[in-house]
Amino acid sequence: MKELIAELTETWGPSGNEDAVRKVIEKSITGHADEVRVDALGNLIVLKKGNVKKGVDKRRIMLAAHMDEIGVIVSHVDEKGFLRFSAIGGVFPPTLLGSRVQFGDGKIGVIGRERVVKPDEAPRMDKMFIDVGSPDKGHVGRRVGDAACFTRPFVDLGQRLVAKAFDDRIGCAVLVQTLLGLKTTPHDVYFVFTTQEEVGVRGATTSAFGVEPEIAVAVDVTLTGDTPEAPTMAVALGAGPAIKVKDRGMLAHVGVKNWMVSTAERLKLPYQFEVLDAGSTDGMAIQTSRAGVATGVLSIPTRYVHSPSEMVDYDDVRHSVELLLGMLSSPVSL
Ligand code: CO
Ligand code: ZN
Repeated sequence: MKELIAELTETWGPSGNEDAVRKVIEKSITGHADEVRVDALGNLIVLKKGNVKKGVDKRRIMLAAHMDEIGVIVSHVDEKGFLRFSAIGGVFPPTLLGSRVQFGDGKIGVIGRERVVKPDEAPRMDKMFIDVGSPDKGHVGRRVGDAACFTRPFVDLGQRLVAKAFDDRIGCAVLVQTLLGLKTTPHDVYFVFTTQEEVGVRGATTSAFGVEPEIAVAVDVTLTGDTPEAPTMAVALGAGPAIKVKDRGMLAHVGVKNWMVSTAERLKLPYQFEVLDAGSTDGMAIQTSRAGVATGVLSIPTRYVHSPSEMVDYDDVRHSVELLLGMLSSPVSL
């Protein structure tokens, strides 16, 4: 699975530019789906049909992981060819200093900063610029509206993995691996790889409306409280998939939460509960779609989220796949 994770995390895909990520996923699921379609917002919707079994309630289940990653977008090009930019999603200015960004054509830019007047002042994005190494505006090769994202290679530390965009390519990898491993299911399972999560769960909003699920599980990253002086949080790397109870955007459906817990206990998989003070996931949009969807979230504990070097534990990833496989291969009653 590490090869797929490496390829997915190294692929370029700031929000609104998910095509390359979608291609990697389409390639990796070939031959495993009963139906594949792409909607107007670019969501990749992959159906695995259920085997009808007597006496088993077939449910319409949607799994969602977002393909997009945070990035920056050119807002102005000056006479000397320096680019000013705005954020795509939640970009923290300190993570930009010393970073390199990559544009859709593979070209690289480095982030520079205006002279520091007050050394104690937090770095601000409007005092930064991208330098693409052009001698003047005529050779800059970039226009307003060009998007870029962090560029960093995937690193395998053994038990732990480091990459840009684990948020949420690790969720995409978990969904792909679950589809490949799901021999039979009594349910119609929609694996949905969504767009534009980082700018306001927009792909999940339209895809949930289109898929019209009864039950949904979003798979995304969550923060941890296990680093020096971290904000207090019960989630730790390596302690198992995190079952969401609450975040800024939603309360998980209790039935779905309990379905995850009872499956983890039946399979003797480690798990932890998650209460997240900041942020949310696609689950928030799916839950309030149409007349409402019973929605839970499976979170992969991740350190340094929204930095160019996010870190996950490989066992958490594998256990997340096992948990989903266990959930989907049996009947559900919420
Ligand atoms: Co994010
Ligand atoms: Zn995410």
